[in-house]
Amino acid sequence: MGESPFRDDLFAGCRVLVTGGGTGMGLAFATAFAAHGAQVAIASRNDEHLAAGAAAIAKATGAEALTHVVDVRDSESVAALAATLESEWGALDILVNNAAGNFFAPVAEMSENAWRAVVDIVLDGTFRVSRACHPLLCKGRDASVVNVVANYAWGAAPFVAHSGAAKAGVLNLTRSLALEWASHGIRVNAFCPGVVPTEGAKANLFPAPEMEQMITDTIPRGRLATADEMALQVLWLAASDYVTGECLVADGGQWLAGNPFYTLGKQIAD
Ligand code: COA
Repeated sequence: MGESPFRDDLFAGCRVLVTGGGTGMGLAFATAFAAHGAQVAIASRNDEHLAAGAAAIAKATGAEALTHVVDVRDSESVAALAATLESEWGALDILVNNAAGNFFAPVAEMSENAWRAVVDIVLDGTFRVSRACHPLLCKGRDASVVNVVANYAWGAAPFVAHSGAAKAGVLNLTRSLALEWASHGIRVNAFCPGVVPTEGAKANLFPAPEMEQMITDTIPRGRLATADEMALQVLWLAASDYVTGECLVADGGQWLAGNPFYTLGKQIAD
């Protein structure tokens, strides 16, 4: 990862779980925590992704990541993940609910199974993992949860309505848990990243190269985000002891500019 403004040992002694941590942004989050002294666990459905992810973390930081295959759509699988963390660590300090699934599909043509698949991963999965980890977080130090959302959660999400509805639900769940768990010593926040050209995003959300430029044109900052800079935002949120129930947006100004006058005005001005 690139240069960090944080102390190398900021998360020394912290135990961190990142779901969807084998690839993409989740892997960048886990790597950044490890680079700042944390013990990290990465969990995902795919054993090969986890092995490659753990190797990447070891190469970048020298740390040995715990890996665990999990399907966040399956309560028993999630319970097994929590049981492993209990026996390995006995507690959890930071949970990053990053696992997600998304694809373009107009609602009129979307099967119920397609809707269900995304909502089950994004919204129900965040609920399941948070609930299963709650006893471990209660035993953690300065515990907190970071739920990854998207900037279409508070606007509209045309053609990704399943994801938009699910992320809006996660944002509301974040606020509810922030209040429910405040007296348990657990902060709960959301993080809204910008568009990062990970392999998953490129394959599912902008498969054609010109689409990447179209997206870049919607971002006032003038470029896509990097996974490493997004990871530093998650670290900041996890380290901010007086912040709970918030959503930190790091999208280069994209959502603020998301109306037709911006696109039109920008074309005229350019
Ligand atoms: N367009 C339309 N429908 C799709 C679709 C697509 N690209 N991908 C999946 N679906 C539908 C399937 O047709 C199926 O519905 P059906 O039974 O009525 O046909 C339903 O969604 C479930 O699909 P399935 O193939 O069983 O997928 P899954 O349940 O194993 O996984 C995802 C669903 C979302 C995880 C899968 O699409 C995926 O792996 N996506 C890539 C990972 C990803 O999204 N990363 C985030 C990128 S930002």
